Parts: sequence; C-alpha cells; structure tokens
Amino acid sequence: MVQASSVEIRAVEKHFGPFQALKKVDLSVAPSKVCCLIGPSGSGKSTLLRCINFLERYDGGEIRIDGQLVGYKSPGGPKMPARELRAMRRSIGMVFQHFNLWPHMTALQNVAEGLQRVRGMRRSEAEPRAAEALNKVGLGDKMASHPGRLSGGQQQRVAIARAIAMEPKLMLFDEPTSALDPELVGEVLSVMKALAAEGMTMIVVTHEMGFAAHVADRVAFMDKGELVAADVPERILHQPEDPRIQEFLRTYHERNSF
Ligand SMILES: Nc1ncnc2c1ncn2[C@@H]1O[C@H](COP(=O)(O)OP(=O)(O)O)[C@@H](O)[C@H]1O
Ligand SMILES: [Mg+2]
Repeated sequence: MVQASSVEIRAVEKHFGPFQALKKVDLSVAPSKVCCLIGPSGSGKSTLLRCINFLERYDGGEIRIDGQLVGYKSPGGPKMPARELRAMRRSIGMVFQHFNLWPHMTALQNVAEGLQRVRGMRRSEAEPRAAEALNKVGLGDKMASHPGRLSGGQQQRVAIARAIAMEPKLMLFDEPTSALDPELVGEVLSVMKALAAEGMTMIVVTHEMGFAAHVADRVAFMDKGELVAADVPERILHQPEDPRIQEFLRTYHERNSF
C-alpha cells in the first residue's frame, strides 16, 4: 500500500478578473479514495485541480491536504513560503492531457530526470527507481526508447511513471486520455486502475464514464464553476436528480452512440 493523502476543499473560490471560475466549491476525498470530476467544458474542472497543488491561486475558502492548508500560511492570510510550497507539491503527482516529455531523452531518462532535479538524487540512484516505475506501468521493454518512438498511450504511461517515481501521496489527473486515439485509452486507464487498487488517493478529471462508474468511489459534477453534486457513481451517472447532470449525460450518450 502507498501512503495516501486526504484532500478537503471548503468554499473555494477563484476569480479571473471579474469572471468567477469557482463558486464556493466543497469536496472531500478521503485517503485511498478515487474521485472523478466530470462536467461540461469550461465548468472549472482544470481550475479546481490546479488550485489543489496551487498551480493556480484560489482567492477564497480553504484547501487542505492531510489537514495542512495549501498555498497560504493561514486562511485568507499571506502566501506560504516557496520552500514549504515546494515540499507540499513534492507529495502530489500530476498528469495532464499532453504528456510534456522531453523529446531528446529516453523513457528512462524522462522518468529519472525529475528524481535528479527535484529529489537531488544521483543518476545511479534515480535510474533504478525510474526503471521500477516504468515496469509498473508495463513499459519495462521501452526504457531506452525516445518519446517519438512511442505511441500516445505509451507516452502517457511514461508520464504516469514519471509522477509515481516521486512516490506521491496524491495523484491529480487532468483528462489523461483525451488526447489519445480511442484504441489507446484502455491501456492508460488500466494503469490508473492499478494505481487506485494500490490505495493511491486520486482526483481524475475525465470524460471516460466507464472508468468513473467502475473505479471512482465518488463522482463530482461541476457546472459553471459550481460543484453541483458529489456522490457514489450510481447516483450521479445513472439516476441523477439534478437536471444539469441529466442534460450533460444525455449529450454525452448522444455523442458516444453510433
Ligand atoms: N488563466 C485564465 N484566465 C482567464 N480565464 C480562465 C483562465 N483559466 C481558465 N479560465 C476560465 O475559467 C473557466 C473554467 O476553465 P477550466 O477550469 O479550464 O474548465 P474545464 O477544465 O472544466 O474545461 C473557463 O470559462 C475558462 O475560460
Ligand atoms: Mg479542463
């Protein structure tokens, strides 16, 4: 089992100038639980995810990881010192839609690089650990390959290996399969599923309703900056009460049927 964090989000607000991107968002994720975040484009899913590791500054409410306030010394107070923020971020892994791998480095070097830079490890120390992470995502035979020689699904698995090599206690995924050809989605989702089974706390922005239904402990639906509902998958995906969720799912099913 991995060490797993809890996340508590209370009344979080975020403005971009006059535009309010997050409106009093509440969400709790207990250790080792998986929360899938769904909702229409522009509803604030990425913004919320980015606030959790303070890539984006929130301007109201509180986000706590294992009880510790993220980004600020106190609620509404001054920002946390950079050193503390770095320490906090070190326990959070993030995977984006675009993998952002170094094209001139092998898969192994891509994963080892972060360990050397962020963790200050020597190469001799970093590479075995990188190899272990690549084995875990099923890429033990691709360590010497450059990203250009890997499929999109393999590249995304390298990006996941890069994150898990840092031994995070929380993983944030922002549409990790949205840029992939449909036939490559499954291999990335199964790596994520295995990570969840190991007990990783995960918050996953996704349009993969099958993954949300089968892997998530909770599904949260966002619309126009509001967190409309968070509940067990069944109640969000099969019998939603809120008309905004019904409408979203109807559009989703229309698009995905042929
Ligand atoms: N840096 C930014 N500056 C201004 N507006 C932004 C910025 N980032 C996001 N937004 C706006 O905030 C809203 C939510 O965006 P986002 O969190 O990316 O939505 P989602 O991930 O659900 O598609 C959108 O209306 C978007 O245009
Ligand atoms: Mg987004």
